[in-house]
Amino acid sequence: MTHRGLLIGCGFFAQNHLNAWAGLPGARITAVCDTDAARARATADRFGIPTVHTDALTALEAERPDFVDIATTAPSHRALVELAAPRTKLVICQKPMAETQVDAAAMVAACETAGSQLLIHENFRWQRPFREIAARLPALGRVHFARFSFRHGYDNYVNQPYLAEIERFTIMDVGLHLFDLARHLVGEAATITCETQRLNPRVRGEDAFSAMIRHDGGAVSFIDCSFWSRLVPHRFPQTLAEIEGEHGTLLLGEDYRLTVHGPGGRDVLDVEPAVPVWGERPWHVIQESVAAFQAHALDVLDGRTAPQPSGAHNLMTLSTGLAAYEAAETGRIIGLRNWNERRG
Ligand SMILES: NC(=O)c1ccc[n+]([C@@H]2O[C@H](COP(=O)([O-])OP(=O)(O)OC[C@H]3O[C@@H](n4cnc5c(N)ncnc54)[C@H](O)[C@@H]3O)[C@@H](O)[C@H]2O)c1
Repeated sequence: MTHRGLLIGCGFFAQNHLNAWAGLPGARITAVCDTDAARARATADRFGIPTVHTDALTALEAERPDFVDIATTAPSHRALVELAAPRTKLVICQKPMAETQVDAAAMVAACETAGSQLLIHENFRWQRPFREIAARLPALGRVHFARFSFRHGYDNYVNQPYLAEIERFTIMDVGLHLFDLARHLVGEAATITCETQRLNPRVRGEDAFSAMIRHDGGAVSFIDCSFWSRLVPHRFPQTLAEIEGEHGTLLLGEDYRLTVHGPGGRDVLDVEPAVPVWGERPWHVIQESVAAFQAHALDVLDGRTAPQPSGAHNLMTLSTGLAAYEAAETGRIIGLRNWNERRG
């Protein structure tokens, strides 16, 4: 069965969504919507999509799609999810799901009330290296330490100029991906401490942070990110990782080298993702993860599995990010259970 989809938001990252949807036989994007009519039309022409809209409600009423793929930036997410929830079966929303806990909770409630499912586009956990790590995690036994590191010197501001303008930058951008990885692979987050840095004078918000999470069960994760590291080549968009457990250690190094230490010795594996026919290095790790994530979305639509991550699961990822700012501002350890942001 082919599911009919409406994509809302035809900007920079939506091109990856549309390329990946075009390669999945179980889905067809039948209409796109963007408030920028010229951008919507150009995108539809590029992908051979028959219908173009500039207003989300009109689009939803006209299309009544099986799924809605929201690829706009965070300020519009709550309103768009609330419009989509009663008019489709599955709402897919890009990260960050929202800018505040209040908005995020309203989005989850809207889908629950309407009986639709909410899947957050957290594609890092769907990257091949992290799928490989997840498959090998049970052999490690109880995990006690992890590190997730995303450091690069790539000029992201060419493709995403808004990143230089936002007050809350790296924690809300890549940080949420890394917090989702930590919760997914190590366990629920219990406390967070964090330091932020503003290194590039062109950029308004923090462009580097270093956080430490204590998980339920006692494991500790270090999570660090910098958009201003002097590395040649720049290493974007690779995440490096280390996970230590009672029976072994997994080390994800540069160039997708996964070293597996176990009781029997050490194995070095190449976990580089395939380059999609429409993709190119070095972006293939992201592009392939979008395709894997969307294949998962189709499994959700077909009732084969539950959303990973669901809107409800992602509430704590967002809270962890928001609490990281409070930790950095106050220099305190923030307990995450029942934590509520002061603003928002
Ligand atoms: N998962 C990832 O790896 C990844 C990578 C890059 C960006 N992103 C996320 O993708 C989202 C989009 O980022 P981007 O860089 O493509 O942004 P962008 O600004 O290039 O594109 C957003 C588009 O949405 C449109 N839009 C905004 N509000 C709208 C509305 N109410 N109705 C219809 N259209 C509307 C804008 O006109 C614009 O064309 C962000 O949330 C970003 O964090 C995710």
